[in-house]
Amino acid sequence: MNRDCSAPFVALAFAAVAAAGCPGKLGGQQGHAPVQPIAFSHAVHAGLYEIDCQYCHAGAERSRHAGVPAAGVCLNCHSKVKTDAPEIRKLTAFVTSDQPVPWMKVHRLPDFAFFSHASHVSAGLACQGCHGQVQQMTRVEQQETMTMGWCLRCHREVRDEERDAPPPLATLAMNRMDTVTKAPARHLQPPTDCSACHR
Ligand code: HEC
Ligand code: HEC
Ligand code: HEC
Ligand code: HEC
Ligand code: HEC
Repeated sequence: MNRDCSAPFVALAFAAVAAAGCPGKLGGQQGHAPVQPIAFSHAVHAGLYEIDCQYCHAGAERSRHAGVPAAGVCLNCHSKVKTDAPEIRKLTAFVTSDQPVPWMKVHRLPDFAFFSHASHVSAGLACQGCHGQVQQMTRVEQQETMTMGWCLRCHREVRDEERDAPPPLATLAMNRMDTVTKAPARHLQPPTDCSACHR
């Protein structure tokens, strides 16, 4: 029998999760560093050339998923830069045949756990805190365990330290610095109840 790992999470699901063999670490796990279809290097792009993470991972601050850039973003530069290099020829071949680059996933939580980038990035957490020094990696590798214990450890630490949220970016963008500085700081309160992460 095949059970759906994304079925609503209820107490009974404990047994189901174990029995159906839905692995806790679907796809991604610590040290996972799959070979990619194009030898794209973060060390070159985010390190040497200091391209901002969110230039390519534009969803990180606003959406659940950080997202991987469409080839069009690469072509902003590679329609001119290194067009004769074999790896760039692969890239343009995908584009001319109208196919997305089949990037291999590095990180992957099981479907029964909810995680959103927006709430974490807008709380002022750096990408590197969860993904390691990506700007030094020639091939991305999962650095952390990304288990429930890992999530909860940080949630408890942030609560204990009574850390505050940074000012909301949308408000800053509207140039309302006065209201921002006068507004009372918002204490971060990462949840520790089951239903926050198992919805
Ligand atoms: C020029 C575009 C570009 C920039 C800049 C960039 N990335 Fe990426 N990133 C990619 C592409 C393409 C992939 C998919 C291929 C791969 O894993 O290397 C990726 C993959 C990733 C992954 C793994 C995604 C998965 O499958 O789990 C993480 C994490 C990541 N990037 C973080 C970062 C961080 C942090 C920065 C800034 C320090 C950054 N990236 C800067 C293009 C970029
Ligand atoms: C609080 C920890 C945390 C922070 C901070 C964080 N990430 Fe992630 N990231 C994760 C987890 C957990 C996953 C796996 C999510 C899943 O499988 O649903 C992930 C997955 C990804 C992926 C692949 C899947 C996707 O969401 O598109 C990319 C790309 C990525 N992160 C980039 C970034 C970048 C860039 C930043 C900073 C702007 C960042 N992350 C900040 C924990 C974090
Ligand atoms: C802002 C400009 C810019 C963007 C955007 C960009 N690159 Fe690059 N890329 C460069 C530069 C600069 C180099 C280094 C060229 C050199 O070595 O002279 C490079 C090098 C490379 C190389 C190595 C080429 C070789 O020498 O064999 C690959 C592969 C590559 N990029 C893939 C990508 C992919 C895939 C994307 C999109 C996810 C991307 N790049 C986005 C500027 C960019
Ligand atoms: C901060 C987020 C978070 C909270 C709060 C949380 N969990 Fe989880 N939980 C996860 C993540 C992420 C996973 C998947 C990774 C793993 O298996 O460790 C998971 C996995 C699980 C699993 C599957 C374990 C396995 O080995 O496959 C069970 C059962 C579970 N959680 C029960 C609970 C219960 C009961 C609570 C409340 C006491 C709870 N969780 C609270 C994030 C959370
Ligand atoms: C490095 C610290 C850190 C790690 C690691 C971390 N979180 Fe969080 N989490 C936070 C902070 C900070 C907030 C924001 C709290 C606020 O805004 O009051 C948050 C908020 C949340 C929320 C509530 C907001 C929302 O999006 O619904 C959920 C759910 C959540 N985290 C799940 C997870 C899961 C699942 C993991 C592990 C895969 C995880 N977190 C790992 C720090 C962390």
